[in-house]
Amino acid sequence: MDFSYIINELAEDREQYFNAIAPPIIQTSNFRFKTVAALRTAFEDEMGGYLYSRGLNPTVDILRKKLAALDGAEDCLVFNNGAAAIFAAVFANVKSGDHIISVQKPYTWAQKTFDNILPRFGVSTTYIDGSDIKNFEAALQPNTTFIYLESPNSWTFALQPLKEVAAFAKKHGIITLIDNSYCTPLNQRPIELGIDLSMQTATKYISGHSDTLGGVLSGSHHLMKKIFDLEYLAIGSGIQPFNAWLLIRGLRTLPARLERISRTTTEVLRFLQAHPRVGKIIFPFDESFPQYHLAKEQMQDACGLLTITLKNGTMESITRFCESLKHFYMAVSWGGHESLVLPKCAGLQPGDFDPSNDEHQYIRIYTGLEDPSYLIADLAQALEA
Ligand SMILES: Cc1ncc(COP(=O)(O)O)c(C=O)c1O
Repeated sequence: MDFSYIINELAEDREQYFNAIAPPIIQTSNFRFKTVAALRTAFEDEMGGYLYSRGLNPTVDILRKKLAALDGAEDCLVFNNGAAAIFAAVFANVKSGDHIISVQKPYTWAQKTFDNILPRFGVSTTYIDGSDIKNFEAALQPNTTFIYLESPNSWTFALQPLKEVAAFAKKHGIITLIDNSYCTPLNQRPIELGIDLSMQTATKYISGHSDTLGGVLSGSHHLMKKIFDLEYLAIGSGIQPFNAWLLIRGLRTLPARLERISRTTTEVLRFLQAHPRVGKIIFPFDESFPQYHLAKEQMQDACGLLTITLKNGTMESITRFCESLKHFYMAVSWGGHESLVLPKCAGLQPGDFDPSNDEHQYIRIYTGLEDPSYLIADLAQALEA
């Protein structure tokens, strides 16, 4: 299905709402029924219609249908944020005694779920370097039921060979989930590569304006219904109609924003590569990136995020650089219109900084929608500082 059609037309029945271009926000908690039989049908299958907005809601449904189509998936559920989507997907697919294989250093709250919550229910996790399929094979246990992927991740951009992992998991009857937030389905299509569940934090690129959170989970209708009927309704973390409306609005400009961000990131990358004070640069579409060929094979583009180190970086020089930036705001998250900087050492006490540890040196840069020359001038003056 054409992306332009999905974004502008799919699921929008404009004649139902005065031919308005923008859909209405159906801000209701409740839906009425005229017959007991109709109410009974809704109780029997809440995913089949509108009963109560903790389940389905018409504004959210427009978004759901668009996001499922973008992912090339049969169905999709939209959550109040990405962490909720991960939580529901994992809980729906593991039980006491099960084992998860996860890529090492997954997104913080996925890792906290694996390390601090799931062990209370007898579910264990093995972390592996996901770059090589052999590591998945070595970690396999008879009780492995779930594989958690994040390709690329949002700091070092480590990738997993998605087709190979999907084939391996299918052979062993294991459910696979990928955090596809970095790429969005415009730049990587995990479902087509055989992955079962594709998750994104819609807070980032889908929203694009840093004004709402959201989480996307796409997959087969069977898997989505299984999650909807229990975890989605029990956790009650489905997206609210106004936030869904903001995400529909964000989607309208997603391809244009990603294209612009991609061009700007390339210019920023070239500037940083030529700068004598910059040490390492990590970016998946840079030829020096260790998994460059895999990135080119499974991703349509790379944009927005890159990680750098300063030459002979110290806590002081990293701090001075980040605090000297005027237009890159120091903040978490990414994917919005505004450029951002995030030093890894903000998570360390000053005495714990180890200059020989590359990771302590990492500074993540996100390029937003500003003019490239505006951003490059800011980086130049901060590097001088
Ligand atoms: C890679 C990645 N996955 C998942 C999440 C969680 O998304 P949310 O903040 O929408 O809960 C984040 C948030 O920063 C993220 O960066």
